Amino acid sequence: AEGLHPPHYKFPHTTLFGTFDHASIRRGFQVFKEVCAACHNLDHIHWRNLIDVAFTEDEVKALAAEYEYQDGPDDNGEMFLRPGKPSDRFPKAYPNEEAARAANGGAFPPDLSLITKARHGGADYVYSLLTGYCDPPPGVEIREGLNYNPYFPGGAIAMPQNIFDGVVEFEDGTPATASQIAKDVVTFLSWASEPELDDRKKIGVKALLLFSTLTALSLWIKRNRFSSLK
Ligand code: HEM
Repeated sequence: AEGLHPPHYKFPHTTLFGTFDHASIRRGFQVFKEVCAACHNLDHIHWRNLIDVAFTEDEVKALAAEYEYQDGPDDNGEMFLRPGKPSDRFPKAYPNEEAARAANGGAFPPDLSLITKARHGGADYVYSLLTGYCDPPPGVEIREGLNYNPYFPGGAIAMPQNIFDGVVEFEDGTPATASQIAKDVVTFLSWASEPELDDRKKIGVKALLLFSTLTALSLWIKRNRFSSLK
């Protein structure tokens, strides 16, 4: 069965000229790091991608350095651990798919780099899914280890509810209600799926201005040129 159709939410980046809310990307990254990263990867994102998007270069260096990465071999042919650098990818939740499935009752937490593009409904779907957990309707049995969520196709999802009021504490003082947390992490994931969207929209606005000016100019010239031919 198909999942419940999600309502349409007005994320600024999904409007015609709207760009990302960068304060929301920053909070959403915090949610991803503190909640989702326990189970999900973000394979396409390198730490440096966050520079000037949600964090300063120094902040990104400090964030990357919180994690250890295997590197090597060194001069003696040995592997070693070193602190992360901006050129590293975001760390993996599990060493491999087998370990991921073993930890999640056989289900695989998908990579979230492109999730708002990959799933029908995009940002609206992911927001609805994250905030949509509820009791199953009478007569619907949910197998042990699964959770009822009407937005998930089939209604029974292996991912438990993760977002609750106060599950993170935002450093900018934004009240951490469940809906705020979900909105911010979805904004972050939308950015991860489409990091070039802001640039594209800015170029689009410039192109509109340029072409409308040229059209106006050519109309004006045409009238001028032919004004003697009545
Ligand atoms: C699936 C998002 C946290 C385990 C998913 C899906 C999304 C998602 C969008 C895909 C649903 C679909 O296939 O349509 C998130 C976000 C999180 C989060 C944004 C943080 C706020 C977690 C955590 C765990 C987890 C902490 C582990 C405890 C799973 C599993 C699946 C899944 C096992 C596969 C479900 C299935 O196929 O039945 N998640 N997740 N997720 N997630 Fe998460």
